[in-house]
Amino acid sequence: MDKPRVVLGVSGGIAAYKACELLRRFTESGHDVRVVPTASALRFVGAATFSALSGNPVATEVWDSVHEVPHVRIGQHADLVVVAPATADMLAKAAHGLADDLLTNTLLTARCPVVFAPAMHTEMWEHPATQENVATLRRRGAVVVEPAVGRLTGVDTGKGRLPDPGEIFEVCRRVLARGVREPDLRGRHVVVSAGGTREPLDPVRFLGNRSSGKQGYALARTAAARGARVTLIAANTHLPDPAGVDLVRVGTAVQLREAVLKAAADADAVVMAAAVADFRPAAYATGKIKKKDGQEPEPVVLVRNPDILAEVSAERARAGQVIVGFAAETDDVLANGRAKLARKGCDLLVVNEVGERKTFGSEENEAVVLGADGSENPVPHGPKEALADVVWDLVVDRLG
Ligand code: CTP
Repeated sequence: MDKPRVVLGVSGGIAAYKACELLRRFTESGHDVRVVPTASALRFVGAATFSALSGNPVATEVWDSVHEVPHVRIGQHADLVVVAPATADMLAKAAHGLADDLLTNTLLTARCPVVFAPAMHTEMWEHPATQENVATLRRRGAVVVEPAVGRLTGVDTGKGRLPDPGEIFEVCRRVLARGVREPDLRGRHVVVSAGGTREPLDPVRFLGNRSSGKQGYALARTAAARGARVTLIAANTHLPDPAGVDLVRVGTAVQLREAVLKAAADADAVVMAAAVADFRPAAYATGKIKKKDGQEPEPVVLVRNPDILAEVSAERARAGQVIVGFAAETDDVLANGRAKLARKGCDLLVVNEVGERKTFGSEENEAVVLGADGSENPVPHGPKEALADVVWDLVVDRLG
């Protein structure tokens, strides 16, 4: 099979150097990449770098190799065009159909999916002109990834940072595999919890669990790709921030509860993928607990943590809100799952079997999604993103 053909447009922002990492991800995973930088992008990264990393010639102007009609050919033949970073100027040109260099010509001739990964200062991103340009591009079917929050050029921090290149690559990989699908979660706010809580005993020790957060992150990433505004509440995860997602970090079950209840207030759906500790130490020692010669250790007394899933299910901050729980079971998986679904009062429960070597930290998952309406949807062994998409399909059905 031919390699998928990707056009990587690079516009002139400091984040242009991160395009090299994105380019490397594409080439290493078997894509044929043609880099089309703007003239200002070449002030940040030289054409030789893009050419060496892509193994293809690099042109900026429509006047290079005119006999090959590059301003038409490159766009027509692409399977995907991704512009990363996309500056405010590039978004404006794309929204208005200007075509004064090779990249903007390519955007007009492309008939394939187009992804923009904007990067700019917060003020430029928030300006109504930029926001209207983004809305125009999205209305026409382009995928515009929300910028990340974090350190910008210089000492400023805020929204406008280019998302992690690995995460932009994930968005592109999905778009290439499935095309730009109907953004069936557009206009919806979804809340996803991920990871595992840690309940401190003293300043250096905690009771925790082995959840990696990968399933929750896959849910957040797929919801964002389907157009949702996503709040991801992450407990003790060590994964790259998914592109286009609002991330809230928490540590304990009590902190997780507070963050979930706050975000759930205006949410259309809440998915509790986090592994929440059922108990926490009754007392927290402010100094490190020391062993004492000749003495047995003090027993650790535990108290119950709040059951967040049961609480959001009972409260339903919004009419029609869909609540999804997860259940990791080692025995009698389905029977325990049905009982848990009823006990928690949620609409859907994703039940999977766990064990020493199953699920925790792996890239794949196998599950059955039980519905309060009695439905049962088995999801075969596969990527966590495939399970995430099944969950969102079932949520969309219930949102009506
Ligand atoms: N959960 C929660 N709050 C808790 C415990 C669990 O919100 N204090 C949520 C989890 O996020 C998950 C679901 O409840 O979506 C099921 O978690 P699980 O630990 O399997 O349920 P438990 O009620 O703790 O059941 P068990 O008695 O099997 O531990």
